[in-house]
Amino acid sequence: MSQLEIKDLHVSIEDKEILKGLSLNVAQGEIHAIMGPNGTGKSTLAYTLMGHPNYTVTGGEVLLDGKNVLEMEPDERSRAGIFLAFQYPVAIPGVTVANFLRSAINSRRRADNPEDKGMPIPEFRKMLKEKMDMLKMDHNFAGRYLNDGFSGGEKKRAEILQMATLKPSFAILDETDSGLDIDALRVVADGVNALSGPELGVLVITHYQRLLNYIKPQFVHVMMGGRIVESGGPDLALHLEEHGYDWLREKTAEETA
Ligand SMILES: Nc1ncnc2c1ncn2[C@@H]1O[C@H](COP(=O)(O)OP(=O)(O)OP(=O)(O)O)[C@@H](O)[C@H]1O
Ligand SMILES: [Mg+2]
Repeated sequence: MSQLEIKDLHVSIEDKEILKGLSLNVAQGEIHAIMGPNGTGKSTLAYTLMGHPNYTVTGGEVLLDGKNVLEMEPDERSRAGIFLAFQYPVAIPGVTVANFLRSAINSRRRADNPEDKGMPIPEFRKMLKEKMDMLKMDHNFAGRYLNDGFSGGEKKRAEILQMATLKPSFAILDETDSGLDIDALRVVADGVNALSGPELGVLVITHYQRLLNYIKPQFVHVMMGGRIVESGGPDLALHLEEHGYDWLREKTAEETA
């Protein structure tokens, strides 16, 4: 079983420290949720795990099965099994959803075996249709330019479709629920649930307990000021929904005073 281990991670953006010693372990098969007020560094954590160049790691470690993730390029991280569903997915006009996914799959196959000729088109089409059906997506989507003119909900589904085709071992979902109507929320959650299992570790970042009624985490963490300040089970999310974050602000202030 794989482990994603984050140890005492410090990350800065333009000389401003955002993550201030964050530690978290996610094992394959586990679902962890991270909640926390705006601007505490949740997306910073997600981008850092994917290797975004704007985020400078100034301390700590990230290990995937003991291998140093921070030394890997973003594409190596993806091949190693880490997947990030973005809070704000970007449009790629001119590249269809199908072509994007096929080249992602094929570049991964070629990285494993330089002789690989790529996934045969009929096999790819069949696989894509199955995944789109699972996510209740119209098949026309495959021929549209990635995220170009997609509604908020469609973008989120497209992210989950990528996850379903790339079959990562660790998926980080950054506010995959924002902007979704109730039906879309359920579809996206069902998609994640269909993919989850002993092969997949999930880190879901969300502001709303509501999502956690559908994607059921075993662990809930609260992030504040660039650190995890509280961890618990699903009850913690319910408690936050009712009481907000102030009690944690006070508690953390007492601890650091
Ligand atoms: N490119 C950047 N340049 C300067 N500051 C940045 C940059 N990106 C992020 N920050 C700052 O880093 C802090 C953490 O941002 P981050 O996006 O990680 O927060 P978040 O916890 O995901 O918030 P939200 O819940 O609103 O999504 C914020 O104060 C933000 O303004
Ligand atoms: Mg964010």
